Amino acid sequence: MTTILGIETSCDETSASIVDDGMIVRSNVVSSQIDLHKKYGGVVPEIASRAHIERLDATIEEAMSIASCTKDDIDAIAVTNRPGLVGALLIGVTAAKTLSWAWGKPLVAVDHIRAHAYSAAIDLPAPPWPAIGLIVSGGHTSLFRIDAPTSIELLGATTDDAAGEAFDKVASILGLPYPGGPEIDKAARGANPKAHHFPRTMLDRDSLDFSFSGIKTAVLYHVHGHGQTRGGLEKLSREQINDIAASFQQAVVDVLVKKTMLAVAQTGLSSVVVGGGVAANSSLRSALEAACNERSLRFHAAKMAYCTDNGAMIAALGYHNFQAGQIASLNLDACPNTS
Ligand code: KG4
Ligand code: ZN
Repeated sequence: MTTILGIETSCDETSASIVDDGMIVRSNVVSSQIDLHKKYGGVVPEIASRAHIERLDATIEEAMSIASCTKDDIDAIAVTNRPGLVGALLIGVTAAKTLSWAWGKPLVAVDHIRAHAYSAAIDLPAPPWPAIGLIVSGGHTSLFRIDAPTSIELLGATTDDAAGEAFDKVASILGLPYPGGPEIDKAARGANPKAHHFPRTMLDRDSLDFSFSGIKTAVLYHVHGHGQTRGGLEKLSREQINDIAASFQQAVVDVLVKKTMLAVAQTGLSSVVVGGGVAANSSLRSALEAACNERSLRFHAAKMAYCTDNGAMIAALGYHNFQAGQIASLNLDACPNTS
């Protein structure tokens, strides 16, 4: 058995996890900073870095204690070193390097987005690969071809806003609190997704890239009037706001499902996985499942606990990187971009 400690500090969740053999999650402790950032309407990088410093040691200790594990039981330390807020990443990377040196354990670097791509496989009895992976998070919207945990090829990505970013911005336009994704999900429940038609930006017919900035602007002008950026929200009832949220969500879900099915058609693969914070969205999960059922494709959504940022997905993919001999040096750096 190979036991990995996974550390995640790329954005506003401080997390540590102990995972055996890339699949058995023995602990997954997540300390969310949402309350710290809420009043600013988004993540403040400096506050995130400070909170990671304050919380990381205790988070790692708790993850080890829940798993009843000492440093002697750990085979390697996996850490997200990209992409993300560079100051926030640096805290996790520094902690992981320090533990690697002090405990004499190998250090493994893990790409955060690829870990989201792997996350749907955690706890599955058999690996779902090869698969098309749709990764929808606050910073990224990507389609991957996943042949194996260490063979994840990018097929398409957003050219502007990420899906989660669009959810957060539209929530803010609608006066809903941060983070906006879960709020829009809630507001849309029972509302009319056909009340308004917002644009479905598909780019070129065969393109697997995304664009969500147009829909955000369309919602902005719908609320305030064309060319206006304020004054309209006060005139809307709760029911009207919920209908806008549902119509926006439907437009985003339509694009995500259509592009994912286009990737399936282009590659001929018969398995689909979805991960990342927006994969927690109830409407997206059911629409993807329905589209996959229609085409007799296998479909796996990441479990809710592994959708938003977590250390388990870092430890789980870290196990495969470790098995493939991908050991990082103590010169490992934090990097804001994906590989
Ligand atoms: O993966 P994640 O935790 O962090 C990044 O790597 O960015 O994703 C966070 C994003 C936020 O934009 C949040 O609004 C969105 O995921 N999100 C959701 C839902 N839950 C979280 N979006 C739509 N519906 C949800 N239920
Ligand atoms: Zn993430």
